[in-house]
Amino acid sequence: MKFFVDTADVAAISELNDLGMVDGVTTNPSLILKSGRDILEVTKEICGIVSGPVSAEVVAIKADEMIAEGRKLAKIAPNIAVKVPLTWDGLKACKVLTGEGNMVNVTLCFSANQALLAAKAGATFISPFIGRLDDINLDGMELIADIRTIYDNYNFTTQILAASIRTVNHVTEAARIGADVMTAPPEVIRKLAMHPLTDKGLELFLADWAKTGQKII
Ligand code: G3P
Repeated sequence: MKFFVDTADVAAISELNDLGMVDGVTTNPSLILKSGRDILEVTKEICGIVSGPVSAEVVAIKADEMIAEGRKLAKIAPNIAVKVPLTWDGLKACKVLTGEGNMVNVTLCFSANQALLAAKAGATFISPFIGRLDDINLDGMELIADIRTIYDNYNFTTQILAASIRTVNHVTEAARIGADVMTAPPEVIRKLAMHPLTDKGLELFLADWAKTGQKII
């Protein structure tokens, strides 16, 4: 499973990238707002740190304007994936932008039928939002499973990018189902390393080690 980090926080991206944990980055207008940075500047900086796909989202509503924005974003760096919303206009923009050789991430996907359309429009990535479905008492993980089945039934090559991941259990489940990629905030990725029995075990080992009176260095 590829790990994308869902943030425009350059320091967090660098730290995780140095650990080999970052196969790509996803951003969106809310994350750009949170960063307090200019979209073109911060996206360029991220593309200089990470060699994998970096999603940058258009904000236009009409297809022709999305295409113009997508072309501008794609010029930032060769590893840009243009992010478009899963609307009819977004699908049109996806088709044109992928036809021009760009990676396209179709975002705000909340149904299997939407994912089917994105694959047919040539999307590189489909981003189903798990957490936001869970928020309204639906099952985000069921959507990931449905899309996996449908894409496999027809050999669609669009990669399933499990998004809106909020918990470590979301990561485990998405991996179990076979999502190609997951994107999560840096804090969720860090939490994947945590286990109370690891902490407890380490505490016991260190207490016993102190009793030996030895030193390694
Ligand atoms: O990249 C978009 C997505 O991951 C949003 O997550 O937590 O705002 O629903 P969230």
